[in-house]
Amino acid sequence: MKLTLKIWRQQNAQAKGQMVTYPIDGIDGDMSFLEMMDVLNNELIQKGEDPVVFDHDCREGICGSCSMFINGEAHGPDRLVTTCQLHMRKFNDGDTITIEPWRAAGFPVIKDLMVDRSSFDRIQHAGGFISINTSGNTQDANAIPIEKEDADDAFAAATCIGCGACVASCKNSSAMLFVSAKVSQFALLPQGQVEATDRVLNMVKQMDEEGFGNCTNTGACEVECPKGISLENIARMNREYLAASLKG
Ligand code: SF4
Ligand code: FES
Repeated sequence: MKLTLKIWRQQNAQAKGQMVTYPIDGIDGDMSFLEMMDVLNNELIQKGEDPVVFDHDCREGICGSCSMFINGEAHGPDRLVTTCQLHMRKFNDGDTITIEPWRAAGFPVIKDLMVDRSSFDRIQHAGGFISINTSGNTQDANAIPIEKEDADDAFAAATCIGCGACVASCKNSSAMLFVSAKVSQFALLPQGQVEATDRVLNMVKQMDEEGFGNCTNTGACEVECPKGISLENIARMNREYLAASLKG
């Protein structure tokens, strides 16, 4: 395939960025989107030009690093896949593909397509954990009975990979889907009850401090989420938050 790539180039958070056009040839439909980007970068390096900076790690849909906006959609045109699992067969010979970074106050650009998502780490540190005594007397997790439906919902919430597509797709740059997934995975389990009150209050406080917007129930986050995280988690987090506020 022969393609035209229009890629956002930006030296750093302060610099003024711009779209730059790159023609590319010899792209196979079986390549992943990131492999196509590798081909472009090899060509740029061979020409002595600055390669396009983009984030990636696992390349198997589990780390959440490969965050980019492709033709105006987070992780591109496919559903329930990350950019690293998007295949070039989704595009046609002669296509023009626009590639941009996540745009949100909470995700400042580091360079080109790479943004700083450490705000998510700080939200996690504020409460996305449980404290367990691991001194040797730890109870076998399987000894605690848990309703199958709760276990399934907790597992589904825990599949959030922290990619930030929900924020990038939201007109308010809201991080509610991410935070609610992290709250829900513990709220549904007995192990998460000890710190439940502090967890939701602290994580929401940190989310607000990081500059993310509010949820106005648009639902774009759920549509673009590569892991299919449900809006039901936001409703659960709101209930948890209300209960914690009344206690606090
Ligand atoms: S909720 Fe979905 S889109 Fe948001 S960070 Fe988690 S996996 Fe990514
Ligand atoms: S590189 Fe890890 S999810 Fe895409």
